[in-house]
Amino acid sequence: MNSASLSFLALFLLSFGSIYADSKPLPRLPVPPFYTTQADIDRYLRLDTWSINLPALYVFGDSFVNAGNSLYLHIPSKANYTPYGIDFRGVPTGRPTNGRLVVDFIAQVFGLPFPPPILGLSESQKKTITTGLSFACSSAGILHMPPALVPILGNILSLDDQIQLFKDTIPMLKGQFDSTECFDSYMSKSLFFIHIGGNDLGVYWELANLQKKFPKVKKYTSLLSEQLYSRLKAMYQLGARKFLVNNVFPLGYQPVNLHLKMNGTSFIEDMNQRAASFNARLPKVLRKLEKSLKGSTFVLFDMYKLFEDVLAQPATYGFTNVKDSCCIDISGNQTRPCRPNSVPCADRASHVFFDPFHPSESIHFLWLRRLLKDNSFCSPINLLQLIKS
Ligand SMILES: *[C@@H]1O[C@H](CO)[C@@H](O)[C@H](O)[C@H]1NC(C)=O
Ligand SMILES: *[C@@H]1O[C@H](CO)[C@@H](O)[C@H](O)[C@H]1NC(C)=O
Repeated sequence: MNSASLSFLALFLLSFGSIYADSKPLPRLPVPPFYTTQADIDRYLRLDTWSINLPALYVFGDSFVNAGNSLYLHIPSKANYTPYGIDFRGVPTGRPTNGRLVVDFIAQVFGLPFPPPILGLSESQKKTITTGLSFACSSAGILHMPPALVPILGNILSLDDQIQLFKDTIPMLKGQFDSTECFDSYMSKSLFFIHIGGNDLGVYWELANLQKKFPKVKKYTSLLSEQLYSRLKAMYQLGARKFLVNNVFPLGYQPVNLHLKMNGTSFIEDMNQRAASFNARLPKVLRKLEKSLKGSTFVLFDMYKLFEDVLAQPATYGFTNVKDSCCIDISGNQTRPCRPNSVPCADRASHVFFDPFHPSESIHFLWLRRLLKDNSFCSPINLLQLIKS
C-alpha cells in the first residue's frame, strides 16, 4: 500500500470510524456456490424461508442491479464479455460484476428464478412469467438522462421508462390470474426492489457542472426526492405494496472517482456529501408515502452505511482491497469498464469493487446478509420482516 492510499484510509477512518462503531460486524461468510438450492442457501444463512411466500421479485434501478436489459439497447458498455460473469458460470450476461447480484441472491433465498431482464423476453414469455422481472438498466436515474450524455452512455431506460414497461406487462400478468382479487393479492405480496439515485448525484450532476449550470445541493436533492416520491407512488398505483428502497452509497469511493484525481479529496468528499444529503431526505419521503398510500410498506436500506462499514473495517469481512478495480479496465487507469477478455485479479472475493464502477459479488452477498435480518441497516423493519408482513 502506498502512502497516498494510507492517508486516504486514515482520512475515512477518522471521519467515519466513530459514527459506525455501532454496526455489528458480521462473521465472515464466503459467497455460496452458484448452483445452490433454496434449502442449501437457507441452511447456509441460518434462515427458514420455507414457510414464507414471496411470489415475485420486481427489480427497478441502475447498473448495480442490471441483469442485462442493456444488451437490448444502444448502449456502448454492455458488460457482455468476460471477465464480467466470470463467477456466473463464466457467462457474461450484462451484469456488470463478476457474479450474482443482490437480487439474484434474494431470488435464490426465496426459491425464485433470477428475475430476467424484461427486454430479453418474448411476448409468450411475458404472458407466462409470474415470478418477477428486472427493469433495471445501466446509467439510469430518477431523472431522465441529460441529452448530452446519450452519445456517451447510450439510450437507456430511465426510472420512468422502467415503470412504463412494468405498466405494459400488467395486462399480460393479469391474464394469468383467475380474478382481480387473486391478482391484487399476488401483487401485494410481491417485492419491489429499487436501487436508484447514484447516477443523478454522480454523472448527471458532473455534466451539469461541466455545462456550467452548477446545481445547488439542497435544491437538487430536493428535486430528486420529489421525483422519487412521485415515481414510487406511480408504482403503488400499479399495484405494488412492498417496497425495498436503497439509499445511495458514498459515490466518491468508486475506483473511477478515486483515480480521476479531480481536485483530490475534496472532489471525493463533495460526492459523498451529495449522496449523504440526498439520503438524509429519504426517511421522510418513505414515511410520507407509507402514510398516504393505504396498505403500503416502505423499507429503507442503508447502502451508504454498508460501504462505510466495510471501508472502516475491511479485514473483518475479508476484503484486502477497497479502492482498486479487480479487472483491468480499457484505459488501464481505472476510469473505464473492464477490458474485454482480460484476466481479472485472482482474489476477486477480497476486492470491494470488480470494475471501476461496480461492487464485486462479495459486496452483493454482504448486501443480502445485511438486508435480510439486520435492523441496524434496514428501517423500520428488515427484509425478512417485510416479506413476512
Ligand atoms: C486514462 O487513460 C486515458 C487513455 O490513455 C486518458 O485519455 C485519460 O486522460 C486517463 N485519465 C486519467 C485520469 O489518468
Ligand atoms: C478544482 O478546484 C478549483 C478551485 O476550487 C475549481 O475552480 C475547479 O473547477 C475544480 N476542478 C474540478 C475538475 O473540479
